Amino acid sequence: MLVVLVVFFLGAVAAAPTLDQCPRIMSEAGLSPNFAPMVTHSIHSLTVEDIRYYFKPNATEENGIPTVNLDVRSAERVLPNAPLIGYDDAFKTKALKSFDLVMRNMNRTWWGIPKYSVLEKVAHALHMAEAWENAMGEYKMIERLLDPESDLCSCVTDIENNGILNHLNLIAFKIRYPGITSGKDSLTNQYLTSANSTDSTTVDTHTRKKRGGYDASYDASYDAGGYEASYDASYSAARDNAPVAWHRSVRFDGINFDLSDVELLKDVAEKLVDKSNVMGYHIDSAEHWEYWKNVLKLPQDESHYYDLAMFMFCKLNQV
Ligand SMILES: *[C@@H]1O[C@H](CO)[C@@H](O)[C@H](O)[C@H]1NC(C)=O
Ligand SMILES: *[C@@H]1O[C@H](CO)[C@@H](O)[C@H](O)[C@H]1NC(C)=O
Repeated sequence: MLVVLVVFFLGAVAAAPTLDQCPRIMSEAGLSPNFAPMVTHSIHSLTVEDIRYYFKPNATEENGIPTVNLDVRSAERVLPNAPLIGYDDAFKTKALKSFDLVMRNMNRTWWGIPKYSVLEKVAHALHMAEAWENAMGEYKMIERLLDPESDLCSCVTDIENNGILNHLNLIAFKIRYPGITSGKDSLTNQYLTSANSTDSTTVDTHTRKKRGGYDASYDASYDAGGYEASYDASYSAARDNAPVAWHRSVRFDGINFDLSDVELLKDVAEKLVDKSNVMGYHIDSAEHWEYWKNVLKLPQDESHYYDLAMFMFCKLNQV
């Protein structure tokens, strides 16, 4: 990566790159073809404190790192900045700070990743911390070599066109409507049915109505065997597909995330199918932990951290 970056840096040109030049500029700098899903997976739950700890000590609340809104009932799915979260500084290690954050919010119904169990929320928090820690070295290297005003940074920070904003919206949908991209009617119908019977003109009304139907039917289908009954048959397929589904670039043709959840649910369920059902396997046994472990070990190559570090550097130093 170092060599690639140096070569790129030396070859940088003055004029701002045009949109169609960005894919080439990014790939020549060694960024992966799955740059957008890789980066969004790693930034969606970042906080100001995390940014200060892992990347830039003087980052502010105007940090420009877009994140998925922790309030899953809000009409605003994606926030323009990572929020200040308020870790308990009485804890020294990052691990206990993260653990405390999960524990003290565990009974907030519409916050974070509601359908994860407490154990899964902890696993998720620690997994993200590991990804950030892994990107620290690459960040420092990039900081030494790259000009934040480079063409590369213009492309990397153009989140409306490079896929990052779309992928963040997709993650928000997956958190709000578990299984929505699974392609399985048994999971998606519950959301579509309640969306159809709903007046989408006011966010408040639609949110309240939809949520009522959503929660009850989700739990019903979950308990009734959406999970256990089909477990044996689909487990290996799901386990093997999960890593792929999480890190594959998606085509968002014709999907406009400015629309409301209700207006978009059908399109998301039909056009963005990736067969993933992240919430389909709970950590309730050593056997299911194996599924999680497989997912949490990803990514297995350095390119992910390089992608992440590049995004963080260019965004945090954007001029
Ligand atoms: C943050 O620190 C960097 C150097 O580490 C400095 O160049 C920059 O001006 C600082 N930014 C703010 C907002 O203080
Ligand atoms: C709080 O959350 C935990 C974990 O999900 C749950 O077991 C417990 O019943 C909840 N308690 C209340 C008072 O809602």
